[in-house]
Amino acid sequence: MPEFVTPDADPMDELRRWLNEAAEAGVSNPAAMVLATVSADGTPSARALMAGTRDQDSITFFTHYTSPKGKDIDHNPNAEAVFLWTVLERQVRVRGTLTKTTAEVSDGYWVSRPRNTQLAILAAPQSSDVPDHAALIAAKAEIEANIGDGDVPRPDTYGGYRLTPDSLEFWQGRPEDRLHLRAIYRRDTDGSWSFGVMAP
Ligand SMILES: Cc1cc2nc3c(=O)[nH]c(=O)nc-3n(C[C@H](O)[C@H](O)[C@H](O)COP(=O)(O)O)c2cc1C
Repeated sequence: MPEFVTPDADPMDELRRWLNEAAEAGVSNPAAMVLATVSADGTPSARALMAGTRDQDSITFFTHYTSPKGKDIDHNPNAEAVFLWTVLERQVRVRGTLTKTTAEVSDGYWVSRPRNTQLAILAAPQSSDVPDHAALIAAKAEIEANIGDGDVPRPDTYGGYRLTPDSLEFWQGRPEDRLHLRAIYRRDTDGSWSFGVMAP
């Protein structure tokens, strides 16, 4: 079994280590996480997103601010992300608060994306009902014709969020005795982390 977590480590470093180990184990899209948000009327929603962990203290993802998740976050910035790597019998839950990234960070991500992706993002108003798929293809072609060879501009309605954790829970299966390992790091008011163990 791969090494479990170190009590006095920074949990974001442990998350990065587990992401690397998932990649080494051949997990496809190891950085895919499922993010749960709650709407203004208390309805939960969850969806997969690609996580970036280059910041030391937060997880970043990029999306449409006008999407259902964006509206949820406008009303309630609390969220939980789950990484699941079943081949390793591992899960990480990250609970925290979402804030928008700066425009500079969103611009930096936008220019790193292929032009084809940028055009698709412009053409598809995420999670809106559309007549059919052909309408999206036509909208993308029209935008491409209008832009010509120019740069594709990032819409203000597309950008990043940072999930700043209050807690990170690491779960490792133990098939030999079914006493699975669960470790939780909780952020203290002074910003440091407390470490605890939970029953499975
Ligand atoms: C593996 C995977 C990765 C995804 N990554 C993203 C992403 O990074 N950003 C995004 O907006 N949607 C991503 N999606 C699509 C979302 O799951 C979701 O359909 C979309 O964001 C609309 O969600 P909403 O209606 O809850 O706002 C991804 C889907 C999958 C299956």
